[in-house]
This record gives sequence, C-alpha cells and structure tokens, in this order.
Amino acid sequence: MTEIPKTNLQWLLAERPVDRAVKESDFKLHEAPIPEPNDGEFVIRVIYSSLAPVMRFYMLDGAGIEEPLEIGDVMRGRGVGEVVRTKNPDYAVGDIVHGKMGWQQYAVADSSPYYLMFKVNQRIVSVSTALGVLGMTGFTAYFGLLDIGKPKPGEMVLVSGAAGGVGSSVGQIAKILGCKTVGIAGSDEKCKLLVEKLGYDAAINYNSGDIGAQMDKACPDGIDVFFDNVGGEILDEGLARINKYARVVSCGQISQYIGDGSPRPIQNAYKIGRLNALMQGFLIYDYAPRFDEAERDMVPWIKDGKLTYQEDILDGIERMPEGLIRLYDSKNQGKQLVRVSADPF
Ligand SMILES: NC(=O)c1ccc[n+]([C@@H]2O[C@H](COP(=O)([O-])OP(=O)(O)OC[C@H]3O[C@@H](n4cnc5c(N)ncnc54)[C@H](OP(=O)(O)O)[C@@H]3O)[C@@H](O)[C@H]2O)c1
Repeated sequence: MTEIPKTNLQWLLAERPVDRAVKESDFKLHEAPIPEPNDGEFVIRVIYSSLAPVMRFYMLDGAGIEEPLEIGDVMRGRGVGEVVRTKNPDYAVGDIVHGKMGWQQYAVADSSPYYLMFKVNQRIVSVSTALGVLGMTGFTAYFGLLDIGKPKPGEMVLVSGAAGGVGSSVGQIAKILGCKTVGIAGSDEKCKLLVEKLGYDAAINYNSGDIGAQMDKACPDGIDVFFDNVGGEILDEGLARINKYARVVSCGQISQYIGDGSPRPIQNAYKIGRLNALMQGFLIYDYAPRFDEAERDMVPWIKDGKLTYQEDILDGIERMPEGLIRLYDSKNQGKQLVRVSADPF
C-alpha cells in the first residue's frame, strides 16, 4: 500500500460572495483525516487542481449546473491525480484519473456519474493537460468551435478571452482549420502572447481604446464566427460586426459574473435575426460521450506542434483561493491550475 500522510488539507466554503467579488476569506483551510475507501470507492492523491470562472456560482446557486454548496462543504472542483487506495475493481492503485475531486489533497470517489471521472490515457507532456488542453477546457474550445461555430477555411474567427484557458486553444484550432483569427485580451503582454505564441493573426487589447474601432480595423470584412467567453460590451461590439450567416458561440460571460445578477443589456442582438445568424450557448458536460472524438484530433495536433498549450501554475494547495481570484482579476495567462502535490511524471 502506498505511504500516505495522516492529514488531508481541504478548503471549505466559509462565506457566499453575494453581490460582490470572491475574497480569500470566503474559504477556510481545514485539516481532515485521509479518507478510507468503502466498497466501490477509491482514494486519489490530487496532483493538480483546476480553477474555473464558474466556481463563484458554485459558491452561490450552482449556476443551474450543480447543486449549490453548503457553508462548510469542501469547495467543488476538478483535479487530476493518482489512485492510492482502492476498493473498486475498475480503478487500480497507480491509475491516473481526472474528475471531480474538490479543493483538497486527497479525494474519495466512486464510479457514479457525479464524479465524471476519466482515466488519463495520454501522457504527452504533463498530466496537467488533463485539466487544460486535453480536459474540459480544451474540449470546450473544440466542441464550441466545431459544433456551434462550424468554421470554414478563409472565414474570420474572433475570440474574446483569447489568452485564457479556453480561448488559448480556440484560436489555434481555428487556424488549423484554415481560418483567419483575431483574439481579444486585456493587456499588451497578453496580446503579444496571442500573436507570438498562440498563432493569432492579430490581437485587440480591450483596455486600450475604442473596442469597436479596433474590431473594425482587425476584421475589415466583418466576423463569421465569434467565440465569446466574456459577454457584456465586447459581445455587443462583436454582434454589431457579424456577417450574414455568422455563428456566435456563447461559451461564457465572465465580465458579467460579478455583480448584482443583472447583466448589461445587449443592443445588437437584433443583428442575429436580421443577418440569418445563429447564437448558441452550450455546456461542455453534455459532450462527455464525445470526448474521445476531441482527443483523436487534438493529440496529433499537439504532437505535430500545431496546437501548443498555455498553463499558469501556482504551487501549493494554500494558493487555491488566490488561483480562483486571479481569473476574475485577469491575472492568469492560459489555464489556471494549482499544483497540489509533486507531479511524478
Ligand atoms: N460553456 C461551457 O461549458 C464552459 C466551459 C468552461 C468555461 N466556460 C466559460 O468560458 C470562459 C473562459 O473560461 P476559462 O476557464 O478559460 O477562463 P479564463 O479565460 O482562463 O479566465 C479568465 C479570463 O477572463 C478574462 N476576464 C476576466 N474578467 C473580465 C472582464 N470583466 N472583461 C473581459 N475579460 C475578462 C481575463 O482575461 P483578460 O486579460 O483578457 O481580461 C481572465 O484572464 C468563461 O466565461 C467560462 O465561464 C464555459
């Protein structure tokens, strides 16, 4: 049996961030015993933990995706880790898995759908990719772009939140498919990353002047596919510039997540009807039966150097709240992760 310590550090929900931004004091660090598996269960040593914008909703109302957390519950989140104890015949000690593990060093899980647990078969570079480019984040980029965006070679694809976890893959996939790509991010440093590392044809810094005028310049023939991670003014300005039959992928609306729950009104939604365009949201969990399909395309792209990935890794479970807050403060570049324990690979 693998040697494991006696205590399990966990982050518990201490307060709900109602009508305000998330604060470090919304969480409480707690020491619990290491869980022992019952029949059908297995225990995982968490290696990396994922941070995602949706987590503020987990702290409030579940966002219609999950049950709301109770005060005192372990914070919900996905992780990748190694099975260290097992009473489940389908999971062996040493298996690397990703799934719902919570903000903690050791998690217990079983085969039920709740955990949405997958074995990691691909170890191209780091197991961290199971939470990033080869996990929910990258698959969100893949299915949102291909299934809803349906990009054709030569079309103009505009991506907001382009330097984030999802956005950093969207532009590259669109480029692989032969599109022209423009990414939007919040700083010159991120715009440099978009063009120099993530292969965008052009980048727009939404904090440096008139966003609409910048879109006009970067997309002179209009927008065919708009992959929107941000909502609000950026969504509105993008809608104002869509072409006939455009596809608008409403992936997320991070600019509207913090506030009193009344999102900024959108003026240009009428363009959807007038231009025979389509605008659609989606939930990546609904694509779970098709994740193999995404891996089949994306793994060769990574191996061939066509799809690079950007991770922003903090060290130590103590930094989980900081990692989450970085997303809303625009501090992360690429997928925000925390390394919870040593990565043995
Ligand atoms: N549909 C689904 O199933 C699904 C799945 C996963 C994620 N999502 C959504 O996809 C989006 C991206 O998620 P992610 O995990 O990849 O996060 P992410 O893009 O890595 O996270 C945060 C980034 O959003 C940008 N941002 C934050 N506040 C902003 C604001 N007020 N205005 C404009 N940009 C702002 C920041 O970049 P800048 O420097 O550019 O400001 C920040 O770095 C989110 O909206 C998320 O909810 C949806």
